[in-house]
Amino acid sequence: MGEPWSAVDALFERHLLPTDPVLEAALANSAAAGLPPHAVSPTQGKLLNLLARMCGARRILEIGTLGGYSTIWLARALPEGGELLSLEISAEHAAVARQNLARAGLPNAEVRVGDAHESLRALVAEGVAPFDLVFVDADKKSGPAYLDHALALSRRGTVIVVDNVVRGGAVLDEESADANVRGVRALLARMGSEPRLSATAIQTVGSKGYDGFTLAVVE
Ligand code: SAH
Ligand code: DHB
Ligand code: MG
Repeated sequence: MGEPWSAVDALFERHLLPTDPVLEAALANSAAAGLPPHAVSPTQGKLLNLLARMCGARRILEIGTLGGYSTIWLARALPEGGELLSLEISAEHAAVARQNLARAGLPNAEVRVGDAHESLRALVAEGVAPFDLVFVDADKKSGPAYLDHALALSRRGTVIVVDNVVRGGAVLDEESADANVRGVRALLARMGSEPRLSATAIQTVGSKGYDGFTLAVVE
């Protein structure tokens, strides 16, 4: 028998996640458009949805949209009048995501094209209202910079989630030349020493292999 993780994820999905043609279409549409298969897994998407509901999020910021799969899970958690903004550097990815969001009937989710560093700087400069939940899932080398921006766009109680902080254990390599691994390691160090944050991390195994999230709340 191979790794049982994917089969266990399938079991969880069968029991806990009803068949969802909208989400399945979003993945199929993304694959057909040639996007990489980097969306969060269904159980991880549901976790994002539950976290957003548990903290009563009305304003959600996502960094890294891809085809909008995680975006749909998050936007579905919003109450009437809630808003989601997702930042994506690739116009092609954003176009696919907008299609998927339109099909999902989520007009309150906006995709903004541009380098997230620039978009975040602009949001801070505009003085937008703080976000209630921030999901960081773009280039991993920029983790510390995204954390700084997320903090600038937060209030006390804001939840900050970062994806892909394990990468099959690659994060253990202190000498890694991989900018993404270095970014995750720097992010973990920053999160632990940042007095405005209370943070933990969870390792995940499942249909996306061995990876993990950091979870934090702004003090
Ligand atoms: N959150 C998505 C997956 C995102 S994959 C989901 O789970 O469904 C990472 C995305 O980040 C890719 O679409 C990539 O184009 C985008 N990205 C990479 N660097 C970026 C940057 N500097 N600014 C904004 N988006 C970036
Ligand atoms: C990969 C997975 C992700 O969740 C992501 O955000 C980026 C890349 C990957 O499997 O390479
Ligand atoms: Mg990810």
